[in-house]
Amino acid sequence: MGIQISPSVLNSDLSRLHDEVGRIAGVADWVHLDIMDNHFVPNLTFGLPVVESLLRGLSVPADCHLMIDDPGRWAPGYAAAGAGSVTFHAEATTAPVRVAKDIRAAGARVGVAVKPATPISAVADLAPHVDMILVMTVEPGFGGQAFMADMMPKVREARRLADASEFDIWIQVDGGVGPDTIEQCSAAGADVFVAGSSVYRAPEPAVMVESLRALAENASRP
Ligand code: DX5
Ligand code: ZN
Repeated sequence: MGIQISPSVLNSDLSRLHDEVGRIAGVADWVHLDIMDNHFVPNLTFGLPVVESLLRGLSVPADCHLMIDDPGRWAPGYAAAGAGSVTFHAEATTAPVRVAKDIRAAGARVGVAVKPATPISAVADLAPHVDMILVMTVEPGFGGQAFMADMMPKVREARRLADASEFDIWIQVDGGVGPDTIEQCSAAGADVFVAGSSVYRAPEPAVMVESLRALAENASRP
């Protein structure tokens, strides 16, 4: 599939969500939507009703990142609303296979995310059931945090797991990804890059998306 860029609208003007997505339409592969419930993470954004409204008529595929408790209850609804990809956190459920199967059955790609303290071994058994592993490069909850370079061994491990499997599993990184940090993520084996503040604080978000893509492509493994 190659390099994919998924800008996060978390730090954009949330009162104009549809227009903010429009600023990256045509250049971004996905729009990353951060759903936070103030339980799994200490912050609150928006939930299913907002995403359902946003997705009506949206031209960019939605990459929903659920930072919520009880994903089994909510995740399939995001797929049914038309999200192309729905990612839940490994730490948030004791029934990850069921959650993954329910997301797939509702028609979306499945991602499983790990917080910085969670090892890749926690999701190794899920390889047949997921299409993407999200390695968090900040503690989830807020945009604009400093990138954790010490997560790169986990990205390499996730890449090895994906390559050793018979499945085409994408490796996503999320948190502090920008022009100064994207190359090391790509070199470590990531292929889907979430970028929030680096894109939406740029004068022209679409131009930044293309810059990030070029940097990631040049640094990607042969
Ligand atoms: C953090 C979110 C990220 C965040 C990324 O909890 O999952 O998607 O929006 O924002 P930046 O790129 O600013 O770290
Ligand atoms: Zn995210």
